Amino acid sequence: MNISIIGSGYVGLVTGACFSELGNNVICVDNDTKKITQLKKGLVPIYEPGLEELISNNLKKKRLKFISSIKEAVYASEVIFIAVGTPSLENGEADLTGIENVARNIAINMAGYRLIVEKSTVPVETGKWVKHTIQTYIKRKIRFDVASNPEFLREGQAIHDFMHPDRIVVGVESAKAKEALTNLYKPIGAPLVVTDIESAELIKHASNSFLATKISFINAISRICEKTGADVTEVSRGMGLDKRIGPGFLNAGIGYGGSCFPKDLDAFITIAEKTGYDFTLLKSVREINQQQRLFFINKIKDALWIVKDKTIGILGLSFKPNTDDIRNAPALDIIYALQKEGAKIKLYDPSSMKKTKGLLAGVKFCRDPYEACRGSDCLLILTEWDEFKELDFNKIKKSLKRSLIIDGRNLYDGQKLKKSGFNYISIGKKS
Ligand code: UDX
Repeated sequence: MNISIIGSGYVGLVTGACFSELGNNVICVDNDTKKITQLKKGLVPIYEPGLEELISNNLKKKRLKFISSIKEAVYASEVIFIAVGTPSLENGEADLTGIENVARNIAINMAGYRLIVEKSTVPVETGKWVKHTIQTYIKRKIRFDVASNPEFLREGQAIHDFMHPDRIVVGVESAKAKEALTNLYKPIGAPLVVTDIESAELIKHASNSFLATKISFINAISRICEKTGADVTEVSRGMGLDKRIGPGFLNAGIGYGGSCFPKDLDAFITIAEKTGYDFTLLKSVREINQQQRLFFINKIKDALWIVKDKTIGILGLSFKPNTDDIRNAPALDIIYALQKEGAKIKLYDPSSMKKTKGLLAGVKFCRDPYEACRGSDCLLILTEWDEFKELDFNKIKKSLKRSLIIDGRNLYDGQKLKKSGFNYISIGKKS
C-alpha cells in the first residue's frame, strides 16, 4: 500500500521503516528539514538497534523516502499516519498543537478519500477533534475516515516490538477503514483488536499506566523488604510465576523514566479529572516513583556520611539499557542531587554521553567503567546495561578508594561481591 507517516521522530521512523520492510511504499514526513536531509542520506538521528540498517535497506529498494512536504505525502498516499509528538504541558495535559496542525494540513491538501490514522499517544476523544478539524478545512465534500492505532514500542527493542507485537489495536468507524488497516497489518500475523476509536485511544493510556503501576508496586514492596529482611527479587519471582500477575515489569530499582510513562501518567490523570474522576491510584504510582529516587539518594548519604567533596563513580545514565534516551532518567535526578551536596561525579554510559555533554555541567565523562571507578569513594549502578554485568571486580576494587557499590538496579549478586570484600548495597534486600 501507499502510506505516509507525518512526524519522523522515534515512533514515526520505526513505524515507517517497518512498514516499508513489509513491502509498502512509505513516505516519512518531518518539518525539520535538517533531519530530513540527514535521513535521505540514511543517517538516523536516534539510537535504536537495527533501525539504521532497516532504513538504508529500504531507501535502496526505493520503498522508503523522506520529504518535508505534507502536501506531497497526502497526494501520494491513501493511508496517512499522524505520528507527531504529544509532549506534556505544564499542567500535565498532552500538548496537541502538533496533532491539530497536521490534521489541518492534511485536510487542505486532500483531493480524494483518505484514511487518517492517529499513531501518536493521544487523550481519549482526540479522534473526534481530528475528525472535526478535517471536516472544517477540507475544500469540498470529500469522504474520509479517522482511525486510532496506538503503538506499544519499547525503546531499545522497538523494531522487535513492531514486528512481533502481543497485539495490534485499531479503532475504526467504517468497514473501509477496518479493511485497510487489517490488510496493512496482515503480514505481521499478530492478534488484531478491532474496536471503536475511543476504546483504542484508552487502551494505550490504560496499558502504559498499568505497567507503571506494576513498577511502583514492586518498588513499594522493596521498601517493606528493607524493613523486614525479605528480598524483593525473591518476592518478585514468587509473585511473577502466577500467570495472573506475570514476571514482567516487576523489577525493583530506582524507578521508571523515559518519554512515555511519566508523560502518559500525567496525561491520563488530567484526562480522568476532566471526566470527573480523581485517579488517586495513578497519583500514588507517580508519587512512589518520585520517592524511589529520594530513597536511593538517602542510601548513598547513609553509606558515605559526608557527600561533600566525595568523588562518586556512576555507571549508566540512559533511562534504561539499549537506548541513548535520557528523558526523565532517574540518573539525572540522582546526579543533580549529589552535585548539590558538593559531590564530584565521574560518569560512564555506553551510548547517551554524547547527547548530554552540554547538559551535565561539572560531570567528568569517562571512556569506560574502570575510569569512572578510579579514585572514586563509591560506585553507583543506575542503568542495567549488559556490559556492566561481567566487569573485572578485582580491577574495580583496586581503582575505588572505598570498596563500596550501591546498585540501583539490583544488577549484581550481592553475596558474591560481599565475599570479594565489597560493601554492596542494593534495593529491597537485606544489606
Ligand atoms: C514504554 C512501554 O513499555 C511501551 O509499551 C510504550 O509504547 C512506551 O513506553 P519504554 O518507555 O521505552 O516503553 O520503556 P520500558 O521498557 O517500558 O521501561 C520504562 C521504564 O520502566 C524504564 O525506566 C525502566 O528502567 C523501568 N522499569 C521497567 C523498571 O523500573 N522496572 C521494570 O521491571 C521494568
